[in-house]
Amino acid sequence: MISLGIETSCDDTGVAIVEDGRKILANVLSSQIDIHRLFGGVVPEIASREHLSNFLPVLDTVLEESGLSLEDIDLIGATRGPGLIGALLVGLTAGRSLSLATGIPFVGVNHLQGHICANYLTHPQLKPPFVALIVSGGHSYLLHVTDYLDYSLYGKTRDDAAGEAFDKVARAMGLPYPGGPVIDRLAKEGEETYKLPRVLLEENSYDFSFSGLKTAVLNELNRSKQMGEEIRKADLARSFQQAVVDVLVEKTYRLAEELGERTIVLAGGVSANSALKEAMVQRGGEEYKIYAPTPKLSTDNGAMIASAAYFTHLKGGRPQVFADPNLGLG
Ligand code: KG4
Ligand code: ZN
Repeated sequence: MISLGIETSCDDTGVAIVEDGRKILANVLSSQIDIHRLFGGVVPEIASREHLSNFLPVLDTVLEESGLSLEDIDLIGATRGPGLIGALLVGLTAGRSLSLATGIPFVGVNHLQGHICANYLTHPQLKPPFVALIVSGGHSYLLHVTDYLDYSLYGKTRDDAAGEAFDKVARAMGLPYPGGPVIDRLAKEGEETYKLPRVLLEENSYDFSFSGLKTAVLNELNRSKQMGEEIRKADLARSFQQAVVDVLVEKTYRLAEELGERTIVLAGGVSANSALKEAMVQRGGEEYKIYAPTPKLSTDNGAMIASAAYFTHLKGGRPQVFADPNLGLG
């Protein structure tokens, strides 16, 4: 089955064509980062307008690159949430209109499930069950995935998502948007010389909280300014990143141990983080298998939506076709 996936939940217009949920035939992304960087973050109204003008050229490119035409497509899927409502509506309406005009079936896709599916594209042998850690710009989730689209929710963010913390800390340090990749690079040149908190919450909780860590960094920046001390940016980036990574690794392994699960899957933009992947692999040793998407598939893209559309369609049931900006997991 050939599925066409459309992703417009935030600031990337992604369209892709995927075979049987696993094999990418073409994957095109039009990033708006350069525009939003001028404002230090995503401006929702600008994002919607950009999706509107980018969608058709991106669709044309994806068809051209795959050598296919619309007649070859068996299924259309578009992200229906979570995300920015105006941005979601552009992709969802485009997908539904294409479906109405061609008769190709349509399914709305949960963006977070798409992030997990990025792993099915990267690792053809990967199958549930596994423990999944989804860490993106707006969400942090810890799940036990029991089948392609079935899961139990164990933990989520109580305040800032992991990626949000990276972006806010970067902004406070005067680094460009999005902050995650910049901190990742900068941290490689630094040492962990700043003492920052690891917030693990209650002993039996799998939830995350990163706002205290973010505040600790802001306090350090203010203190240094008042004392006239220069901030060692690479060291601060390294110390902050290590604090996030320690919490993510600790909670993920606690859940894996509790469930007796030896496969761990990382997903979402922050799963591109090199220190996170390294630390996860190191903690697991020989006993655990750690999977993450390629960096290109970690962040938002159309291919993960095309894959999730395929699994959503396979599962059957009435397709969900309305936008839900607050759609979550669980
Ligand atoms: O999944 P994603 O593309 O969009 C959402 O669904 O939110 O994630 C974007 C987030 C941003 O917060 C970005 O700073 C973060 O992922 N990110 C990273 C890295 N690459 C992207 N965070 C840490 N290290 C990275 N290498
Ligand atoms: Zn995302």
